[in-house]
Amino acid sequence: AGITAAEYVKSSVNRDQCPADGFPEFALVGRSNVGKSSLLNSIVRRKKLALTSKKPGKTQCINHFRINDSWFLVDLPGYGYASAPNTLRKNWVEFTRDYFLHRKTLVSVFLLIDGSIPAKKIDLDYARWLGENKIPMTLIFTKCDKRKKKKNGGKRPEQNVEDFQGLIREFFETAPPWIMTSSITHQGRDEILVHIAQLRNY
Ligand code: GTP
Ligand code: MG
Repeated sequence: AGITAAEYVKSSVNRDQCPADGFPEFALVGRSNVGKSSLLNSIVRRKKLALTSKKPGKTQCINHFRINDSWFLVDLPGYGYASAPNTLRKNWVEFTRDYFLHRKTLVSVFLLIDGSIPAKKIDLDYARWLGENKIPMTLIFTKCDKRKKKKNGGKRPEQNVEDFQGLIREFFETAPPWIMTSSITHQGRDEILVHIAQLRNY
């Protein structure tokens, strides 16, 4: 399941602009700053293929990356970024939702959740929306390298992960698959590639 080629293809601001090759794709969504672009780089073993930043709001478009000339990883803008101008924010919410609901080649949405902190309402709401709309999804917990801190609820990532799954269970008929990751230690990288390979073979 190794990566032999990874290349940036294009940035789109609506579904019509997205590539028409028909390759299966997997989209990374989650709160601003949760580590979507960092995870993409970790998966493809490139430091700067997707642009990352300490400041939230870095990714603003639907960015397609072609992997092994046969499938796409898609980096999306984050939700919940309070400082972005309102019109921009509304626009992101609309085009990402339209993309999730109608992009035919989308195999699974990877919903990224910060595993180093307790569940946030906005993430629970997002999981609920995906569940209600029956959009296939995988839970990816990020930043699992971070040690527990009192100011972050004082729980280990394993506990935050378990708590989160308990809180969203009612939104799904079958509990979504989940993977713990870190873009620093590259925990979960191989597991994600195996998961993608399995989904592609269905
Ligand atoms: P937006 O594009 O703004 O929505 O953010 P994003 O979700 O793409 O986050 P990005 O990958 O840009 O990372 C945000 C910050 O979190 C950066 O400072 C990263 O270095 C840091 N970060 C990302 N992943 C990890 C991780 O696994 N562990 C730790 N400790 N920090 C991480
Ligand atoms: Mg980003």
